Amino acid sequence: MQRNKAAVLGHPVAHSLSPVIHHYWLKAYGIAGEYAKIDSAPEEFSETIKRLQKEGYAGCNVTLPHKEAALALADEASDEARAIGAANCLLFKDGGVYAMNTDAYGFAQHLLASGVDEALLKGKKAMVLGAGGAAKAVIYALNQQFNMYIYLANRTRERAEALKSKQVETVGWEDKEAALKDCILLVNTTSLGMKGQEKLEISLQNLPQASVIYDIVYNPLETSLLVAGKQRGCRTIDGLGMLLHQAAPSFEAFFGKKPTVDKDLRAAVLEALKGRI
Ligand code: ATR
Repeated sequence: MQRNKAAVLGHPVAHSLSPVIHHYWLKAYGIAGEYAKIDSAPEEFSETIKRLQKEGYAGCNVTLPHKEAALALADEASDEARAIGAANCLLFKDGGVYAMNTDAYGFAQHLLASGVDEALLKGKKAMVLGAGGAAKAVIYALNQQFNMYIYLANRTRERAEALKSKQVETVGWEDKEAALKDCILLVNTTSLGMKGQEKLEISLQNLPQASVIYDIVYNPLETSLLVAGKQRGCRTIDGLGMLLHQAAPSFEAFFGKKPTVDKDLRAAVLEALKGRI
């Protein structure tokens, strides 16, 4: 029987939780597959991909700093990957490389799985903080799946300006609080609040209490933003679910089974995170 093989490539890669997620599902579904962790420096990245193709891997996930390089070397790419300008999953098929980006899917799925009604978001306004790779995925999901209008605030204004569109308006980092009054959703995609980083300083006074606050940071799980959101009476969602949900389409593509994100998976990943929090 052929054992399907996959891996995550990063540099560094030791911290990656992808093996925990994929091993959990392999075991849960009794699939005889393998999922490795491979450290590949940027200068070796394309050689590593060629080697994995030769060795019969089904594909691989890629994390920092390879997400843009992964898209660049692919023969074909999904609409999401092209729009976001980065890939987090490469599939090897028919001698070629197909790039996907499942971050937008992971974010949207997690919002819905957390009980946020699509109708609450459709056509409404959201505030997105940050303008890096994670912000691009979040904006793609909010624009495409929920037809939301976005206020985008980033410390470095030019990075936000680069993401401006019909559905994305930039606001100054200092003006972000004022725009909250129209928003049904606030998403932090910056690294502020993450262990070892400064906390995110923001007043939620203008944010309607019916709003949802999503922090993509998951280490710690409960950031000061989420604590303040709860105090305000808003619904709050931590970033761990995005990590779990973004892995599902990769697993299905590598191993042929659509997996479920359940409480036990979350517990397994939290266990692996222990000591890092
Ligand atoms: P990713 O691809 O994971 O989104 P990134 O591209 O490094 O990561 O983006 C990190 C985000 O956190 C950026 O929006 C960054 O703002 P800048 O574009 O101004 O760098 C934001 N960020 C990081 N540290 C910050 C800080 N101290 N204050 C405000 N924003 C910060």
